Amino acid sequence: MSLLIRNGEIVTADSRYRADIFVEDETITRIGGGLEAGPDTEVIDATGKYVFPGFIDPHVHIYLPFMATYAKDTQQSASIAALAGGTTTWIEMCCPSRLDDALAGYQLWKSKAEGNSACDYTFHMSVTKFDDQREGQLREIVADGIGSFKIFLAYKNFFGVDDGEMYQTLALARKLGVIVTAHCENAELVSQLQRELIAQGKTGPEWHEPSRPEAVEAEGTHRFATFLEATGAAGYIVHLSCEPALRMATRAKERGTRLWIESVMPHFILDKTHAERPGVEGMKHVMSPPLRDKRNHKVLWDALAAGLIDTVGTDHCPFDTSQKLLGKDAFTQIPNGIPGIEERVNLLYTYGVKRGNLNIHRFVDAASTKPAKLFGLFPRKGTIAVGSDADLVVYDPDYKGVISAATQHVNNDYNGFEGMEIDGRPSLVTVRGKVQVRDGAFVGDRRHGRFLRRDPSHFQ
Ligand code: URP
Ligand code: ZN
Ligand code: ZN
Repeated sequence: MSLLIRNGEIVTADSRYRADIFVEDETITRIGGGLEAGPDTEVIDATGKYVFPGFIDPHVHIYLPFMATYAKDTQQSASIAALAGGTTTWIEMCCPSRLDDALAGYQLWKSKAEGNSACDYTFHMSVTKFDDQREGQLREIVADGIGSFKIFLAYKNFFGVDDGEMYQTLALARKLGVIVTAHCENAELVSQLQRELIAQGKTGPEWHEPSRPEAVEAEGTHRFATFLEATGAAGYIVHLSCEPALRMATRAKERGTRLWIESVMPHFILDKTHAERPGVEGMKHVMSPPLRDKRNHKVLWDALAAGLIDTVGTDHCPFDTSQKLLGKDAFTQIPNGIPGIEERVNLLYTYGVKRGNLNIHRFVDAASTKPAKLFGLFPRKGTIAVGSDADLVVYDPDYKGVISAATQHVNNDYNGFEGMEIDGRPSLVTVRGKVQVRDGAFVGDRRHGRFLRRDPSHFQ
């Protein structure tokens, strides 16, 4: 089976040109002008459209036992949503808790995805405790093709590690050539501030942000960077949300620390007033780090445009209205998370490229190429080149729509971006040569997704 995409404008992280793309089986085999179709070739006319490399979401939660409940999606529902939005590969956070066995957790997460995903996938392996037994298990997991760890400085007594465990994790990662991703908030400060606010009767979702102010994130960011410097490990800050944390991270970058930065879509376009809405409307917008003061939007867009922020993910983590209401008496019990896997690319294109905040090449870089490079998937993923996987997004820049829970594929009863306009969407999406989406509708194979083994010594 072959596929010929004709007359599109190919846009990668560093090039833009008109050409045809020929795909045989799972791979791009030719790029050029006037390519001929074979007898069994499906021809797709991409006139007036961009052709982007398949987008990669470097930060999603699909299976997640968390805050007394489970995130709502399955690999099936989330992967179909991802593909409808142009994401062809994701990296899921594998998150066994501190009390769970790490290897059993890894096998559980992998089994949830195997044969159940429509898009390709791999994992960041969370290290939620460090001891000799875990070290042996982590070595086994890395040998299975996992090239990145995840640590949480927040979520005390559940996912969170102490400073000693952070040091040990980074030292092991350095030896193995594994990059360590980190949620940077000071767990102790969060816990003290939460206690004080609740004691004062401040129980609504509007108090979530004051319980984890910007300084709490800046402290975690600075501490993580300091530990990276001390160990020589490579690090990646997830969901950086505000100017003080950015300052800490960019200073560390300037000192030569091997550090990369991710921000996630909600922090570019939503702000803390969303969580200040009364009742469950506010709860729907509780995530950590919290939605911030609006002044941070321009700071994040500018840093992204300048390449100081390297990638844009989602931190996709859906909880429905009834789950959010677990926190009706205390904001500390609201399951943290905002879904966004379906919307990320269209929102980044609309509010970044179309609104003049982001160059189109940086858009492709931040949402596809950089995640592929950092996490050992490049050049198989993250670009359009002969020999790369045929993960392609034919993108219609003239489409106009409005985001709504009524039309989403994600398994949830609300959408955190409800009512926002989008100026563009994928008209066709392929994963390794298979057409999975046409005109916004999933038309493909629900089990086509494959686990991606990665080079474990990527960061030696
Ligand atoms: O609020 C969030 N971010 N929920 C998911 C867990 C995490 O911290 O990434
Ligand atoms: Zn996090
Ligand atoms: Zn997360």
